[in-house]
Amino acid sequence: TAPQISRIVSHAHYLKQVSLPWLEPQRAGKKGSRQGLRMPSQSLFNKSIALIFSKRSTRTRVSAETASVLLGGRSLFLGRDDIQLGENETLRDTARVIGGMCQGIFARVGEHEEIEELAKYSPVPVVNALSSLWHPTQTLADMLTLHEHAHLFESDPTAAPAANKPLAAVRPLTIAWVGDSCNVLHDMLVTYPRLGHKMRVATPPQAMYQCPPAVWDRVTQLGCDKGIHWTNNPLEAVHGADVVVTDTWISMGQEAEKEQRLRDFAGYQVTEKLCREGGANPNWKFMHCLPRKKNEVDDEVMYGPRSLVFPEADNRKWSMMAIFDLYFGKWDITGEKALN
Ligand code: CP
Ligand code: NVA
Repeated sequence: TAPQISRIVSHAHYLKQVSLPWLEPQRAGKKGSRQGLRMPSQSLFNKSIALIFSKRSTRTRVSAETASVLLGGRSLFLGRDDIQLGENETLRDTARVIGGMCQGIFARVGEHEEIEELAKYSPVPVVNALSSLWHPTQTLADMLTLHEHAHLFESDPTAAPAANKPLAAVRPLTIAWVGDSCNVLHDMLVTYPRLGHKMRVATPPQAMYQCPPAVWDRVTQLGCDKGIHWTNNPLEAVHGADVVVTDTWISMGQEAEKEQRLRDFAGYQVTEKLCREGGANPNWKFMHCLPRKKNEVDDEVMYGPRSLVFPEADNRKWSMMAIFDLYFGKWDITGEKALN
């Protein structure tokens, strides 16, 4: 729900304010001493979180492992060649066995049904670390990044934010997506319109690049479709955009479609020229979940002053810490499996 999203984002901001000085006291002017500093939540003290990953990961994995340590617990990275899952054991049995020993499961899977199967049979909370359809933890980091950069979207973007300000409100934004209808976009579709932002999306016209029915059903169920304009024209999508976002054209598992995808996405690269000609807000900013290829965004945008991609990547850690604290440490916003 919208309040849950806001709660996780605010909590991530709070944990970042507490944890950075704790980890690096010299930043807080403490000459290396932690004396007088607040300690981050230790809700995972003595607890173990299973990271079941059937696909590669840099940000999601590292943020999960480092967040677990900071919360006083540990995580076990269980890659596809490490455990019996897939070769010798079912998702159902894996969920029950790992859930019997760990206090949370964070899983990156292929088909989305796999995460549902894990959640169905796990005795502990399961969080999606990316599936074919969704990538929820990415959108939460993106939300934190937008809030931290809220001043850039005001009429005077040069006015610097006050130090240690509370998490700023972001005015209603127009967020453009130019690329594939992939997992990263799908969470944005069900999140941003609920928080008052508008989305403008351009995907190529072929059926395979349209929003999958299971996702669109959820979008309409939540009433988010009213805040989304969908087109096949990248110039139209970036019109009036405050933020332009994209992702790889070839998601993990789609490597065999590479040649066809490169052809179909011709004209979809995010560049200064595209956004100028399309009439984006002159102060538009760029976001990308990473990893990035040059096809979808050129170096000028990726490494230029419009780019928020590295603060966005850093924020994976703080948003992951908030998610792990609330869902695995405190179990208080999961609904069905909350402790009472
Ligand atoms: N953005 C993201 O999820 O990156 P990784 O695949 O490296 O985890
Ligand atoms: N859409 C990409 C996201 C990677 C973080 C993929 O699924 O491979």
